[in-house]
Amino acid sequence: MINLIDDDDIARALRSDVRTGLTAAPKWLPPKWFYDARGSALFEEITRLPEYYPTRTERAVLTEAAPAIARITEAKTLVELGSGSSEKTRLLLDAMLGRGTLGSFVPLDVSASALSAAVDSLGVSYPGLTVTGIVGDFARHLGHLPDGDNRVIAFLGGTIGNLTPADRATFLASVRQALRPGEWLLLGADLVKDPAVLVPAYDDAAGVTAAFNRNVLAVVNRELGADFDPPAFAHVALWNPEQEWIEMRLRAGTAQRVRIPGLDLTVEFAAGEELRTEISAKFRQAGLTAELAAAGFELSHWWTDPREWFGVVLAQAR
Ligand code: SAH
Ligand code: TRP
Repeated sequence: MINLIDDDDIARALRSDVRTGLTAAPKWLPPKWFYDARGSALFEEITRLPEYYPTRTERAVLTEAAPAIARITEAKTLVELGSGSSEKTRLLLDAMLGRGTLGSFVPLDVSASALSAAVDSLGVSYPGLTVTGIVGDFARHLGHLPDGDNRVIAFLGGTIGNLTPADRATFLASVRQALRPGEWLLLGADLVKDPAVLVPAYDDAAGVTAAFNRNVLAVVNRELGADFDPPAFAHVALWNPEQEWIEMRLRAGTAQRVRIPGLDLTVEFAAGEELRTEISAKFRQAGLTAELAAAGFELSHWWTDPREWFGVVLAQAR
């Protein structure tokens, strides 16, 4: 594995994000801090919840589309950003290896624990494939991707929706920068649908998503010596129909005073005050096609499930 993340950098970035976010009004924290080892394990649990349709729907779409993706791209290298367990990616690896074009797989994730488990398991399943894990940040490290030709960059799971629209535009442009004309982006995007389906996917009955959301407080406690009382914060997931995104928040049940010695900071929460932790934007085909075009990609193929709940887009760098 290649590690592009320096522990000092991480500590500095966390301190800066926590100070900026917790002294802002409204308070917020950026989502990449969810994914320590426990956060990554909780996310894997989320993917198996009955209410969390995205993973199984995307898997169904990929099962159908993988042979065409392999045929159209003739991928020699598959890069995966925010790869996590790379579980669904096996469908692509199988199809690309089946066509005989693929030589290497490069998963990149901020979570070293999730990545090393995935790399070990892929090594056992695909002994002939070169697997190079990169511990890195997809917002900063795309310049470090291996050079080559016929590369496909996959970004699955709807993680694109966790970026704000402005960050999304910057991100798509940097993916385009990392590719040569003719190379490929394969994007998994969750689609706009009935809030009665959307909201439970982010507020499950078993409380796993609530535990995942609160885990960010445990990260701040551990890394910065803070004394957040995670159970004192309620998990809130709501659908914003104007922005067409799910918002995740943590709501203080009673007034809270939190000491953060690592920042020499004390933060007050009023009873009922909310801390914003994550958005998960949902897409429409036309809007996503326009965003891809603005970043220098041309839509090649669009696959979806019969209910049109999840889209898988293959786009080619112009
Ligand atoms: N692709 C997997 C995992 C999705 S969860 C799937 O479809 O199931 C989002 C993943 O992105 C997590 O593994 C998390 O660790 C990773 N991640 C989040 N922010 C990141 C960042 N800035 N850079 C790299 N990886 C990131
Ligand atoms: N990419 C996932 C999504 O937006 C991440 C996710 C799932 C998530 N459940 C969550 C992030 C709960 C924060 C809280 O669907």
